[in-house]
Amino acid sequence: MNENVTIFTHPLIQHKLSILRDKNTSSKDFRALVHEIAMLMCYEATRDLPLEEVEIETPICKTTAKHISGKKLAVVPILRAGLGMVDAISELIPSVRIGHIGLYRDEETLKPVEYYCKLPKDISERDVIVVDPMLATGGSAIDAVSQIKLRNPRSIRFMGIIAAPEGIEAFTKAHPDVKIYCAALDEKLNEVGYIVPGLGDAGDRIFGTK
Ligand code: PRP
Ligand code: URA
Repeated sequence: MNENVTIFTHPLIQHKLSILRDKNTSSKDFRALVHEIAMLMCYEATRDLPLEEVEIETPICKTTAKHISGKKLAVVPILRAGLGMVDAISELIPSVRIGHIGLYRDEETLKPVEYYCKLPKDISERDVIVVDPMLATGGSAIDAVSQIKLRNPRSIRFMGIIAAPEGIEAFTKAHPDVKIYCAALDEKLNEVGYIVPGLGDAGDRIFGTK
């Protein structure tokens, strides 16, 4: 496995992912599970944030304690499905700024078509987490990260839920400097570009548009 790729095997994540994949899971439960998985993944994917000592005063005495060291973060969901992962991250990191990149896959060519991009003004001072539940051909994530790189952020990491081997290969080739965090590496893409076994169309399942 590529050293830039981390698959989270935590039992809570894997259990929730099994329910997420089930075709009988309702949109309401699907949204809740994406939120819960994103929160658990964010906890793991931010393990390497540096800490610094700060002086505080408890009701008992002065002491030193640890704060996350001056790090400024931004989360950038790839619309639409990435939106399902944003609230979980902003609940854990309330100071996070949120950008948006709108992309959809052309159903024939499977190439991403960009329709929106709005990023925080100070993104060059921030570490960015790009989120999208699905990394299929990798085209959307590759394009989103290329757009963000034009604005020179301090670092970028990608957090998805399910990846296909084809997407991992294309993404790590295009962006070897960007770490990928996922909950599952599935078997393959089918003839119409869906991840097998996957979970179907993430955007449609989150927003109930099928
Ligand atoms: C899905 C998914 C990713 C993309 C992954 O979005 O949320 O953005 O496909 O596929 P790729 O790796 O082959 O690019 P979709 O294009 O269906 O748009 P939507 O979220 O608006 O439904
Ligand atoms: N986008 C999805 O939502 N699902 C897939 O399986 C592939 C791309």
